[in-house]
Amino acid sequence: MRIRHIAGSDEEVAACPIVVDAEGGERDWDKIFPDNKPLRLEIGVGKGQFIIEMAKRHPEADFVGIDLFTDVLCRSVRKWMRDENAPDNMRLVIWDAALVGELFKPGSIDKIYLNFPDPWPKPRHQKRRLTSPTFLHTFASVLKPQGQLEFKTDNQELFTYSLEQFETASAFRIDAVTRDLHADSILSEGNVQTEYEQKFSEQGVPICKLVATRI
Ligand SMILES: C[S@@+](CC[C@H](N)C(=O)[O-])C[C@H]1O[C@@H](n2cnc3c(N)ncnc32)[C@H](O)[C@@H]1O
Repeated sequence: MRIRHIAGSDEEVAACPIVVDAEGGERDWDKIFPDNKPLRLEIGVGKGQFIIEMAKRHPEADFVGIDLFTDVLCRSVRKWMRDENAPDNMRLVIWDAALVGELFKPGSIDKIYLNFPDPWPKPRHQKRRLTSPTFLHTFASVLKPQGQLEFKTDNQELFTYSLEQFETASAFRIDAVTRDLHADSILSEGNVQTEYEQKFSEQGVPICKLVATRI
């Protein structure tokens, strides 16, 4: 993914009231969300369409979205700031998925959404895929027992690779799989599209989805 630099993005992100400065030490989620609702995490929020819409549709939960890059998170910040009905049950953090174990207590997350992660197609980059065994181990550690991980991608090769990883990961049980989400009446119920999902499905590319439970 090519990232366009946004002038002033550091200041814009820092000034946004829903951005948590986790690097600076603010990581007490019980204090940030004192209502003690189930906590859901989106990894790689991109431009923010998914998390903002999910937070609106699910006031019974609290949402945290992370992204590695300030220039990307800035797009989510702008979308939230522009929205007259911006939900307050969500926070955004500049954070690396590899380090979610330092952002959340073990077993504290109700659900993880992994939407259209970079496919890293070259075999020598396999370890960078967010569904590689090390990442799945990290994600499992912050999920509650019976917590779920939902993964969507347009990339068939990444999906095949990821299915194999979930099948062999002792921490997960696969609950549902489709290689054409939008044609699946059950799995597509309540589906919220991300920016990537919208772009690919408009081009006729089928969307793959996997749902797994932390066991
Ligand atoms: C292909 S984009 C998808 C964006 C969005 N989820 C969507 O579906 O429209 C992948 C996103 O993951 C973010 N990302 C990549 N590696 C990451 C990491 N290690 N930790 C957190 N975010 C990451 C990128 O900055 C980018 O925003």
